[in-house]
Amino acid sequence: MERYTEPKYRTIYEATEEELEQLRLKSIHSKWKPNFHIHPQYGLINDPNGLAYFNGEYHVFYQWYPFGAMHGMKHWAHAKSKDLVNWERLPVAIVPVEDYESHGAYSGASLEIDGKLYLYYTGNIKYSAEERSANQNLAIMDRDGNITKYENNPLIEGVPSGFTGHVRDPKVFQKGDTYYMMLGAQRTDLTGAIIVYESSNGIDWSFKGELNINLELPDSVYMLECPDYFELDGKDVIVVSPQGLKPDGHDYHNLYNVIYVIGKLNLETLTFDVETYQELDKGFDFYAPQTFTGPNNERFLYAWAGMGEIDYPTDKEDWAHCLSLPRELNLVNGKVLQKPADSLKLLRKGQKVKELMTVEGVKEIDHESSQYELELDFQNKTSSTFGVELFASDTEGLVLQFNKEKQVVSLNREKFDAVFGEEFGIIRSAELEIGDITKVQVIVDRSIAEIFINDGEVVFTTRVFPKSESNGIKIYSDGKLECSFTKYELSEGISK
Ligand code: FRU
Repeated sequence: MERYTEPKYRTIYEATEEELEQLRLKSIHSKWKPNFHIHPQYGLINDPNGLAYFNGEYHVFYQWYPFGAMHGMKHWAHAKSKDLVNWERLPVAIVPVEDYESHGAYSGASLEIDGKLYLYYTGNIKYSAEERSANQNLAIMDRDGNITKYENNPLIEGVPSGFTGHVRDPKVFQKGDTYYMMLGAQRTDLTGAIIVYESSNGIDWSFKGELNINLELPDSVYMLECPDYFELDGKDVIVVSPQGLKPDGHDYHNLYNVIYVIGKLNLETLTFDVETYQELDKGFDFYAPQTFTGPNNERFLYAWAGMGEIDYPTDKEDWAHCLSLPRELNLVNGKVLQKPADSLKLLRKGQKVKELMTVEGVKEIDHESSQYELELDFQNKTSSTFGVELFASDTEGLVLQFNKEKQVVSLNREKFDAVFGEEFGIIRSAELEIGDITKVQVIVDRSIAEIFINDGEVVFTTRVFPKSESNGIKIYSDGKLECSFTKYELSEGISK
């Protein structure tokens, strides 16, 4: 069948140096470019891919379209780091020039096999705007960092019967002597599924079947993207990004959402017995996360701090999105807690301020920087609503609010000139046991805030695009609130 053409299906090899330099210069002075979050110099990024600690270094690959803030021909961009903090940008890792990836090198994961890093990814194939197919491909990175596409790609051609062309995002792992590949898929009845392939060598794959996972998601779920599987503190966990969930109470208010599922995986019977599942992050901009194992067996996670099909204020500067910070996951009392990776403390510099204060009404505590870390301990005896406003000025502010009566924490990003995505609402919220002490850790990097509450029980990942003067921090409370407050200035981690 003839392949589909459109100007956005163009690779970086078809551009001149001048064109790319123009794109780079266009946003080099953007006040919204993060300083230590992985972000594009130009163009659009989305999912983290191929995450690994390999040969003594961390590797982050990610979806990248170079020519503007749109989803076009996806490449795998690449950065590496020794400490998860200081990143070196590397040449683009996968450029989709072959027939088996004619419309993009889509998301995937990596696994170390025989001392090399195997990068599994989906070759997106389009026959028209609506019709598509998918191949599963391999590229191999050796210990010197050379990346070569496997000569006999695709590893898996097309999709198994019973599924549409929406089959993608391989996650490969090993159990005993066998390799397994999980893929997000869509059944021909247009509902979402996870399918599994197996292999004895990571190269020759056979279709094993659909994973029977008793999640009972509504029929409105039409696709499961980016499945991730790992063990955490003795349990099996699947993290997956379903499309088509509808808002339900405090949950699923984004266009696309992410859940984690705890239970038991049986690869013989291809079943996953679900104990519990819930939304992973309560913020506005969080999707397609992927995890990997750190050198000390930590379980690290990166996500795309963005959302599809929404226009972002940086679109007009021809760049969009960043990744989340690396987070470490732990299972505590049946919940997955997320905390910033320990090594992020290396970013801390400058004066550390520690104060104990009493707030009744509103108190501005700082307005000096747009890249910082904040630790707040609220000791609350009398107030029913209290919280913190970030990116605050007379006219703007991101409002985190705790409501003790309702036992709800909420985040409101309505108060900005640059509003975006408001068709999906301007508040996100979560239930939380709000007792006498509430802990909040915030990391702010110019146009992104990651807010960790009570050691990561609730996390909000959120983009905001404030005016330059909107860098205040205000504590507020309707009763008497004791608050201890520590602030660290943070340094840069990735080049512009
Ligand atoms: C998720 C996703 C993946 C796909 C990639 C394409 O955001 O749609 O399913 O592989 O993005 O960029």
